[in-house]
Amino acid sequence: MGLHHALVIETQKVPWESGLDYLRTLAPAFRDNLGPADQVEANFAKYRQKNLYLDRDSTRRLDLVQLEPGYSDLTHCCHDSVEEGFLLGGEVVLDGEGTLHEGDYFWRPPGWIHHARTQPGVELLLGFEGRSNESGPVSRHVCPAQLAGSHHLIPSMNEASLGTRGRVCKVSSPGLVWQPGAAHARSQGPLMGFDLEHLSVRVLSRNPLTGQQTVLFRLAPGYQQTSAGSHAVWWQMFVLSGGVQWGDEAMGPGVFVHQPAGTVEAAMASPHGALIYAKVNGWLDFTPSCA
Ligand SMILES: [Fe+2]
Repeated sequence: MGLHHALVIETQKVPWESGLDYLRTLAPAFRDNLGPADQVEANFAKYRQKNLYLDRDSTRRLDLVQLEPGYSDLTHCCHDSVEEGFLLGGEVVLDGEGTLHEGDYFWRPPGWIHHARTQPGVELLLGFEGRSNESGPVSRHVCPAQLAGSHHLIPSMNEASLGTRGRVCKVSSPGLVWQPGAAHARSQGPLMGFDLEHLSVRVLSRNPLTGQQTVLFRLAPGYQQTSAGSHAVWWQMFVLSGGVQWGDEAMGPGVFVHQPAGTVEAAMASPHGALIYAKVNGWLDFTPSCA
């Protein structure tokens, strides 16, 4: 077994962090551009989150976020970073982009002007890429409301404004086909030891040059990898429903895992099936470890 272990967070056992505490974790370039100072406190009282991942060097992060009914951003804005979200429930109106519900997903390249509000409340997985190879730091710039849906630097949509995965305003995942594991594997790396027969994939967004991807994995009951092993790139998963096992470690709904590149984990199994939201930092591959 590898010396490094994956980061595993059982989010249901982690208390909610209030928006006011969250403010303190933000980079100054984000925190100081949230809107009129006297309204920021009242507004962020309607915001709570559980941090799943935060890399202070790149400012890349992933959070489980709840916005209470009536939450509304104080200003329109754009970011130097990619922003990415997957709705677990409720509804959010993204001005200039669309209205999203449970199972809907977005990937917004840097620079696109938007504003979020929710009438009934919303719960989502919300990520910023930070200074990764596809975006700048997690910053926030206040923008005029009338520019919602446009790019703050580039007047017309062109390849530069689309970034690496395109401007994905809304993907309704229930409407996507489930790709059989073997079909998805044709575009990926070697997957010896994976149980492709019990795997299906919905691709939410992907970088066609690097293979970086955000996907839903559906494991059919009886999923069983044949060996412990590792991936060449880091990957993250959030269990939406069902459960998976790594050896005797069971992970049910709400469990988040960040597995660094190259770390060896026990063979994954799913006796009763599972639905997983996953981010993979490149082509998906798997190298069985020698027993
Ligand atoms: Fe945003």
